[in-house]
Amino acid sequence: VTLKQQDTLDPTPLDTRVVGARVLVHESVASTNDEAFRIGGDGSVVVADAQSAGRGRQGHQWHSAPGQGIWVSVVFEGHVSGLTVAAALAVRDALASYGAPAIKWPNDLLLNGKKICGILVEHRAGLTVVGIGINVHHRFEDFPEDLRSTATSLTLETGGTLQRSDCLRAVLTELDVRVVQLREDGFEPLRREWALACDLLQRRIQFGEEDGTVVGFDDDGALLVATDDAMHCVRSGPFTVLRDT
Ligand code: BTN
Repeated sequence: VTLKQQDTLDPTPLDTRVVGARVLVHESVASTNDEAFRIGGDGSVVVADAQSAGRGRQGHQWHSAPGQGIWVSVVFEGHVSGLTVAAALAVRDALASYGAPAIKWPNDLLLNGKKICGILVEHRAGLTVVGIGINVHHRFEDFPEDLRSTATSLTLETGGTLQRSDCLRAVLTELDVRVVQLREDGFEPLRREWALACDLLQRRIQFGEEDGTVVGFDDDGALLVATDDAMHCVRSGPFTVLRDT
């Protein structure tokens, strides 16, 4: 597919081992995650200039206007755990030279306190798909009004001109590093980096009606929280950090 704008999306050539076994670039799809499940194949990549039904977590829509971002999914064979963590660390490292985003548990990357990237991992029929959405070219007024106070784009925060293909190549290259690490060394090294990046270990948090201390992370990156009488696994927000301990 040929894209009209100068800023193309094609990330090839890629020097990777798993991610990018196939790379399909579309002008528009409903959701790159759905398309990735449809084509399957370990390491296949689906990227689109626009999504008509981009999905966020917890049933939210994901704003995916043409030409403005990187909407990409990668499919892996099997039920892979730890992929949200692998993808978040990969995007953080890939964007180190684009303003160095911070990881906000459970699955967001923030630049200057505003959301630059969201990650959605889904499992279906023996496949796992990780979908990554990165806001690249949005101007303030390109975001729907309800997102303007919480979302931002690489261009807005860094001011420079950037090519989505370069950025996407960096993301896929780092994701490959993390997926190979996960396969060869297991989740432990990622868990340690995740704990440092999220900065929640030993913090007292309030979640729902309860409060407790974060004592660790499970194999999907969820919080293990000890309350007075039980251990809880907290998979998503909202939560509040009560105080430093
Ligand atoms: C979130 O923060 O809620 C997760 C957003 C994930 C968006 C990406 S864009 C590419 C892929 N395809 C989708 O439909 N969603 C993910």
